[in-house]
This record gives sequence, C-alpha cells and structure tokens, in this order.
Amino acid sequence: MRVGIIGAGPSGLAQLRAFEAAQRAGVDIPEIICFEKQSNWGGMWNYTWRTGLDKYGEPVHGSMYRYLWSNGPKECLEFSDYSFDEHFGRPISSYPPREVLFDYIQGRIEKSNAREFIRFNTVARWVDFDEATQTFTVVLDDVANNKTYTETFDYLVVATGHFSVPNMPYFKGIETYEGTVRHAHDFRGAEPYVGRDLLIIGGSYSAEDIGVQCHKHGAKSVTISYRTAPMGFDWPEGMEEKPLVTHFEGHTAYFSDGTQRRFDDVIMCTGYQHNFPFLPHEFRLENKNCLYPDNLYKGVVFNEQPRLLFLGMQDQYYTFNMFDAQAWFARDVMMGKITLPNKAERDRDIATWLAKQQAIENVFDEVDFQTEYTRELVDSTDYPDFDLEKVGEMFKSWQRDKREDILRYRDKTYTSVMTGTKAAKHHTPWLEELDDSMARYLGQEKKQAS
Ligand SMILES: Cc1cc2nc3c(=O)[nH]c(=O)nc-3n(C[C@H](O)[C@H](O)[C@H](O)COP(=O)(O)OP(=O)(O)OC[C@H]3O[C@@H](n4cnc5c(N)ncnc54)[C@H](O)[C@@H]3O)c2cc1C
Ligand SMILES: NC(=O)c1ccc[n+]([C@@H]2O[C@H](COP(=O)([O-])OP(=O)(O)OC[C@H]3O[C@@H](n4cnc5c(N)ncnc54)[C@H](OP(=O)(O)O)[C@@H]3O)[C@@H](O)[C@H]2O)c1
Repeated sequence: MRVGIIGAGPSGLAQLRAFEAAQRAGVDIPEIICFEKQSNWGGMWNYTWRTGLDKYGEPVHGSMYRYLWSNGPKECLEFSDYSFDEHFGRPISSYPPREVLFDYIQGRIEKSNAREFIRFNTVARWVDFDEATQTFTVVLDDVANNKTYTETFDYLVVATGHFSVPNMPYFKGIETYEGTVRHAHDFRGAEPYVGRDLLIIGGSYSAEDIGVQCHKHGAKSVTISYRTAPMGFDWPEGMEEKPLVTHFEGHTAYFSDGTQRRFDDVIMCTGYQHNFPFLPHEFRLENKNCLYPDNLYKGVVFNEQPRLLFLGMQDQYYTFNMFDAQAWFARDVMMGKITLPNKAERDRDIATWLAKQQAIENVFDEVDFQTEYTRELVDSTDYPDFDLEKVGEMFKSWQRDKREDILRYRDKTYTSVMTGTKAAKHHTPWLEELDDSMARYLGQEKKQAS
C-alpha cells in the first residue's frame, strides 16, 4: 500500500508521526511519501520574509510575521506524546513567540526519521483518480531541479492548510486609494506602520493581533473596521473599532455610520480561502472557515471518495493536538484498523455534526464543539488520552482573560494537563517585550562585548 501526503506543516507532520508511532509499536506501515513545496517543514510556522512569489515563482505559503506570539495558551495545543517539559527541560511561559513554537514542533519530529519521507521543494500540481485501479496519480513538480513526474497512491492525505490564499474584498474607490493596501497574508512586521494612521478591515484574530502588534510597536493610531460585529475589547487609547468601510476617496475612508477619516495605510484582515488548485473540482472542499466542513466524515475522510483524507481543514481552537487526533484516525482508516460505516451512515453522522454547528451561539459553544469533536477522535484511536475537558476550560478562561485586558492576557500562566507543570512567567511583560527571538525568550542572548 502507498500513501501520499501533501504538505509538511503541523498536520502533515502529525500524519508522519502517527505512522511512526504504529511502526514503533511493531506494526508494518505502508510506503509513505510526503510532498512539501517549501524548502523546510513546519508550514505556517516556517517563517519567510518573502511575500508574493517565492524563489521558484510559486505563491508564498507563509502568513506569519515577526513579533507573532501564540494567541492562545500553549497548554491548549501541547502534543500528548511530547510535552513542552520534554522539549525545553524547564517550564516556559504560556504564550511563546513563533520561533519557540516552531522549535517545539521540530523537536518532536526530529526524534524520528520523518525527514527521509519528505520531498521538499516539491509542489503537488494535479491529482487524478482511477476508478478501475482505485488509485490516485499525483503530478509533482520538483521546482528546485525543474523536473515534473508522477507518483501513484492508494490513499491521499491533503494537509495543505487553509490560511494562505487571501480573501481580498473590493471596496469602491480602493483602486485610487492613495495610501498602501496589503492583505494580512503579506504582513511581515509592524515597522512600516510606526507613526502612521492604520486602518484594518476585518473583525477576527488577524485584525485583533495585527492591530495590537502595530499599536505595541508604535503605530500612531489603529482603527479596525468590522463587517458583522465589533470584537468589543477594551481597546487602549489610539485603538478603536468602526463599522464597515463603504468607500475610499484619496487618503480617506468612509464608514457606514457616516463618519470618515484619513489613513496612511490599509491592511485587509479579511480571512483566507480554502484553495485546492491541484484537486479536480469533485474532490475540493468548498466551505468557508468553519468548525465542521461539509462532506468530511469525522472532519477527516472525504465522504464521496474515502481514499481521500483531509487534515486541519476546520477553524481552529485546538491545533497541534487536534491535528494529531485526526492523523491517528486517518492512519487507522488507511490501515484498516477503523472500518468506515457505509455512505448513508456517514451522511447521517456528518448531518448530526452540521446540526450541532448550526446551534452554536457563542465562542464558549464553539470551544465545547471542538472539544467534543476532538474527544471523539482521541477515543477512537490509541493517541495518548489527555484531559481535553480541562483544555476546553482553559480556552474559556483565555477568552475571559482577553476580555479583561487585550494587551496583557499574554502575561497569564496556565498549567499543563499533560505534565501538571505550571508555566513560568516570562521575564518581561509582553507589552514591553519588543524582541521575539528564541534566544531572548530563553534568556540566552549573547553577552555584548564590553
Ligand atoms: C497568521 C497566523 C497565525 C497563527 N497563529 C497560531 C497560534 O498562535 N497558535 C496556533 O495554535 N495556531 C496558529 N495558527 C493556525 C495555524 O494554521 C496552525 O497552527 C497550523 O500551522 C496549521 O497546520 P497545517 O499543517 O494544517 O497547515 P499549514 O501550517 O498551513 O501547512 C501546510 C503546508 O502545506 C504546504 N503546501 C501547500 N500547498 C502545497 C502543494 N500544492 N504541494 C506541496 N505542499 C503544499 C505548505 O507549504 C505548508 O508547509 C495561525 C495561523 C496564521 C495564518
Ligand atoms: N498571533 C496569532 O497567533 C495569530 C494572529 C493572526 C491570526 N491567527 C490565526 O489565523 C487564523 C485566521 O484568522 P483571520 O482573522 O485571518 O481569519 P478569520 O478568522 O477567518 O476571519 C476573517 C475575518 O474577515 C472578515 N471578512 C471577510 N470578508 C469580509 C469583507 N468582505 N468585508 C469585511 N470583512 C470581511 C470576517 O468578517 P465576518 O465576521 O463578518 O465574517 C472575519 O472577521 C486563525 O486561526 C487565527 O487564530 C493567529
């Protein structure tokens, strides 16, 4: 049996780890090849300074930026088979910066021979399914060596993420707006906005985080324009929310409440598209960012063609440990340890989850939904169990911390459900910490020569 995995971000790496865990337990595993278009693993967490196209002319995947600190407690995303204690050897704070989390992700996978299974600089271009042989043929581009070739698989795992292709709405007059316009996908740091009046469009995590970062690093003012509802945090002086922009003229943005204001720059924090240019249309997920994408049995198995599996396609409270739970489930489906019910039963199961999603009224319901979803997956495989319900409570507490103080919630500390370790306080309050390097975080900066 041959398994193809597209993407070596946290989800694709979780799939490799799941197979490795089975192998360590003495089980024969299939032949596996993972294709990753970047030159290294880690997906979003593999920071790139590039925007637009990469070295080989491919769309840049990364949307992360300098000064990105975890936006939820690390205790909520901890792997249950590789703790922060095991990796760092001492307690660290609850909200580490990107480089530290990247190091943690790498730490687990470097303990295996996973790199051998990954072909880097390799883009999945197209997928065909042959009904007669029940196999996928994947057209691949080795962009570093300018070689196109194909590989054939019995199962295909799509782990390409869904926060990379910008959703860029049009506003009247924006084509002649006199300031700069970019999408959050191309934001790489707050420096260009120091001393400037910044307009952010969007009302979710990117709008909040990029807005707060720019405020922290010295923007003159940050205005956030929402479509559906304000985030309603207790914003500091210099930050405010306004309803949606109606149009632009010159440097000025006009809002639906009749007000107007001049801005130097606009950042669209308007989310991302699920985008699968390498899949024929009948295999594409067509949903927007939501907690339960339609057509995925257990949020993983493509219902019309169960040899096709997707990881990490839902909106995410849980991240790394949910991707693990999905990957373990996907592994057991592929290896026949889990027998899928017939299509009618799968349809019913999907409908039940979609109805539950429909009934969600607030963020606490969202957390409960994803806790219940992840619980079901963890219970159906040998992924090491952990106190998910306690993690759910931590997510709720995190939401309350943000309500209490949007600038200081990252100074709070949580306790790991994996090890019982209470996080350390970071040596510097987040608001004053302008250096997000791992060396500074771990207190290992090189001493200045005197
Ligand atoms: C700005 C931002 C900040 C975030 N911050 C946090 C946070 O603080 N905490 C948290 O838990 N989560 C955060 N996330 C969520 C993040 O999506 C997940 O943590 C995680 O990276 C998702 O993993 P993934 O493997 O599913 O997708 P990705 O990380 O996006 O990885 C997908 C991989 O697939 C590869 N790929 C794509 N197309 C192809 C192709 N055709 N061929 C070959 N390879 C391909 C990409 O190069 C990439 O390496 C953040 C997301 C964004 C956008
Ligand atoms: N530090 C961090 O860790 C960090 C930082 C940034 C992002 N992230 C992660 O990145 C992921 C993506 O977050 P995101 O905020 O980019 O996307 P998102 O959560 O999908 O939100 C998209 C936002 O865009 C708005 N929008 C869409 N179309 C619009 C339009 N035409 N006009 C105005 N507004 C529009 C939506 O408004 P409606 O509400 O009206 O639909 C919504 O508020 C999340 O998982 C998040 O956790 C993490």
